Amino acid sequence: MKNTVITFREAKQKGEKLTMLTAYDYSTAKLMDEAGINSILVGDSLGNVILGLEDTISVTMEDMIHHGAAVARGAKNALVIIDMPFMSYQSGVYDAVINAGRLMKEGRAGAVKLEGGAEVCPQIQAITAAGIPVVAHLGLTPQSVNAFGGFRVQGRSEAAAKKLMEDARAVEAAGAFALVLECVPARLAELVTGQLQIPTIGIGAGNVCDGQVLVYQDMLGMFSEFTPKFVKRFADVGEVMKEAFRAYCREVRSGAFPAEEHEYGMADGVLEKLY
Ligand code: KIV
Repeated sequence: MKNTVITFREAKQKGEKLTMLTAYDYSTAKLMDEAGINSILVGDSLGNVILGLEDTISVTMEDMIHHGAAVARGAKNALVIIDMPFMSYQSGVYDAVINAGRLMKEGRAGAVKLEGGAEVCPQIQAITAAGIPVVAHLGLTPQSVNAFGGFRVQGRSEAAAKKLMEDARAVEAAGAFALVLECVPARLAELVTGQLQIPTIGIGAGNVCDGQVLVYQDMLGMFSEFTPKFVKRFADVGEVMKEAFRAYCREVRSGAFPAEEHEYGMADGVLEKLY
């Protein structure tokens, strides 16, 4: 069944957990869709795991549209959410609406996600008023890594926890239909989840959130440069891939591949006519 904003609302009401993973291409999105995932996030984490950048700051609208459209073609039932990249919405409401619109029209998103609290509420209001569903994102918001002074857990002090609570209420009031909570203490995430009508989707925020999201390369063991504490490896696909690549190299070098069954035949006598 097609997942929509209504699926999110009803899941919260019924106490059913929502599933979300990131994806950046058609084939992966199709596999996730076939596995029954509720939602696929085309995260700007593609800067790290697809483009090999050290953060998400340089990711562009064109990157998000290009990968978002590929994911949308593979996702029949999952709700596709595309991240708004750095500086596509922070500069003001006008830019935010135009760029969210491009992610919908060109990227074929079902919703967009943006980072921040009270300071981006005018943008959330304007985007939702344009008929575009918005997911908010609080806690460790990677586009603000330079302001945070590095990737670290957020909301640990009383002041920071209070601010996060206020921001969560503000983005809900502004019209966000879900809230991603990244790298915050589990007890704070529980408090936020209990106070909001909209579902919270946790990543490094404990298991009381209404749903969970992970970067798929992390949960499949395909990205080994940095593995945060909150990641669980559900399979070691990276090792399986490396072993297959090694076997391919061995067989090509030895001449074992391609074998006869991989060849195309030709009618007898055709080649003789060429001489
Ligand atoms: O960009 C991303 O992948 C994200 C998730 C980590 C929530 O925003």
